[in-house]
Amino acid sequence: MAHERIKPEFLFDDEKIKQLKQIAPECFEDGKLNFETLRQNLGNWAQDEEDGDLEHFGLFWPGKKDARRLASIPPEGTLEPVYGQGLKSDGTPDDDSVNDSKNIFIEGENLEVLKILQKSYANKIKMIYIDPPYNTGNDFVYDDDFTEPLQEYLRRTGQIDEEGKPLTTNKKSDGRFHSKWLTMIYPRLRLARNLLKEDGVIFVSIDNNEVHNLRAVMNEVFGEENFISCVANINNPKGRSDDKYIATSHEYVLIFKKSDLSFYGWEPEEKVIKRYNKTDEDGAVYREIDLRKTGDADRKEDRESMFYYFYYNEETGDFFPSKDKMDLTGYIEIIPLRADNSLGRWRWELNTAKNNITQIFPKLMPTRKIWGVMEKDYLTDEKRVKPTSSWTQKWANSERGTEQFVELGFDKRVFKNPKPIGFIQAILQMATSDNDIILDFFAGSGSSAHALYDLEINEKKNRKIIQVQYPEPLNKDDETQKYAYEFCKDHSLAFNISEITKERIRRVISKVESNEGFKCFKLSSSNYRKWKDIQSEDVLRLESSLDLFNSSPLREDWNNNKLLTELILLEGFPLDASQAKSQIGTNEIVKVESEMVPNTLLICLDDEIEESLIDQLELDNSSTFICLDSAISNQNKLRLSDKGLIKTI
Ligand SMILES: C[S@@+](CC[C@H](N)C(=O)[O-])C[C@H]1O[C@@H](n2cnc3c(N)ncnc32)[C@H](O)[C@@H]1O
Repeated sequence: MAHERIKPEFLFDDEKIKQLKQIAPECFEDGKLNFETLRQNLGNWAQDEEDGDLEHFGLFWPGKKDARRLASIPPEGTLEPVYGQGLKSDGTPDDDSVNDSKNIFIEGENLEVLKILQKSYANKIKMIYIDPPYNTGNDFVYDDDFTEPLQEYLRRTGQIDEEGKPLTTNKKSDGRFHSKWLTMIYPRLRLARNLLKEDGVIFVSIDNNEVHNLRAVMNEVFGEENFISCVANINNPKGRSDDKYIATSHEYVLIFKKSDLSFYGWEPEEKVIKRYNKTDEDGAVYREIDLRKTGDADRKEDRESMFYYFYYNEETGDFFPSKDKMDLTGYIEIIPLRADNSLGRWRWELNTAKNNITQIFPKLMPTRKIWGVMEKDYLTDEKRVKPTSSWTQKWANSERGTEQFVELGFDKRVFKNPKPIGFIQAILQMATSDNDIILDFFAGSGSSAHALYDLEINEKKNRKIIQVQYPEPLNKDDETQKYAYEFCKDHSLAFNISEITKERIRRVISKVESNEGFKCFKLSSSNYRKWKDIQSEDVLRLESSLDLFNSSPLREDWNNNKLLTELILLEGFPLDASQAKSQIGTNEIVKVESEMVPNTLLICLDDEIEESLIDQLELDNSSTFICLDSAISNQNKLRLSDKGLIKTI
């Protein structure tokens, strides 16, 4: 007997390759593993690169390595709650810091924000919609500084040192025009993918400037096999007259899934819904359709097994199908008769008719005066239609977006080309369902929040949205920004775009009378000291900084609410986690809970933890107590750790 070939243990079989593709789709290009990408992603785990040229298929641009590095640098910042700008669910401002809303607005640079959200929202987002700058040559593309991303952000937004200076636009003549855009979008997509649920999906609006590059980048980040469609969204049916040869009438929506997509399609159009004109005793809507097959292959001989008899007793209501012809007194015999009275066939097999007898009923056809069988065809979720790859509906037209913005009392020049809310509602409808979380990290004027608040009024699916918008400074001397600047001046708002976003959300909530509210956060520096803060040439200063660092990892200017949010995020809780305050003795404890996390946090940031708290605090194996290290003695730490998990800062 021949020996079976011994397989080396390290051999990768199809299953292992599939798993590797799931973990790192960006390492596969054209179906083949790209060792170079894998090596870079492995960081210190990989051996040094061997000499030699590697030739392979894929998208390359100068700066790709930096783009990868950008995605893997850990965040430096945190999110800080902002009070007085959001709305509570009753529509009143949240000045007093109590806001139970599930919708979140984050003012900040989205790369850093996406990093901060990684722990709490990994595999939690059902749908991402983004409308990034299209790279037209006139729009602002964020120029990431990968040595000091947060410091650069704080400087640009005027939060440290100098005033926030206007950002440069990515001009076609600048050189590296596409590369710069790709370096911007790549790390954001990588981080966005981590946040998607396994059955989640991302939609990206884009136009001819970058659609080809974006598709290649998304193939790399999401895996080619997860490509769903590149939709032609007819946003300008008349076409752009200033195009030289062909007047462009559409832009694109690139759609990729993460893995096993749950997709719901669209509700049928109004004219189709109208055909469902009957209501049964339970209030369900249906239409009557003939059980006889019509159209092609409708003769008995086309499917003999689908020709059988129904018997109906008008007096007793008894009604049943039968393979054989029967001779029953008092019963009407019903067979499928074609229009020329020749023998036809039913649409269902005999067994289907038996098993679904309550769905069908006999009916005397008013014109033909013969008995037939009708099916009660209900308007269920399965009736949803599969969207096509070109969206020509009125809601796709970008003029609608501007009209909807103006209907909220804004001058149309305040924000150029807001997306139509019907367009965003169409994608919300096909990709989301009850309790789903939606993310838009290029929020602009806040059209996606508008679309969701409006949709929730009728559908009430308890969906939530997280939006991120850069506080892009407004320059009163810039032709395109001066109207937004004037708007902010007239409404006593700070001079940046995220103020417009928040104002729009507030106006939408009041217009549609939503009781959802929203909570505001902003990107800010961490409450924790950083190693580089204590670097110094002066040995004495260095020593005293080190002492400080050892005595408390917190910066001197840390504050309670900000640290609470930072801890919530570091512990993997979402931004809408409930925070219930209670008192034990003089100590205040905040209990943090969320349906997204199985455990509970109990946080006390007081300077001193009293004996009464040690005695009375109840901890179980699903709760963690967090307090300042300096606030509790070692002995009391031991006493508490007998009760459960404790962490000190
Ligand atoms: C094309 S607009 C989005 C428009 C939006 N869909 C609407 O309907 O209003 C892109 C937005 O992304 C913002 N943006 C660009 N780079 C960003 C970044 N790195 N972080 C956060 N926001 C950014 C810009 O300020 C701009 O408002």
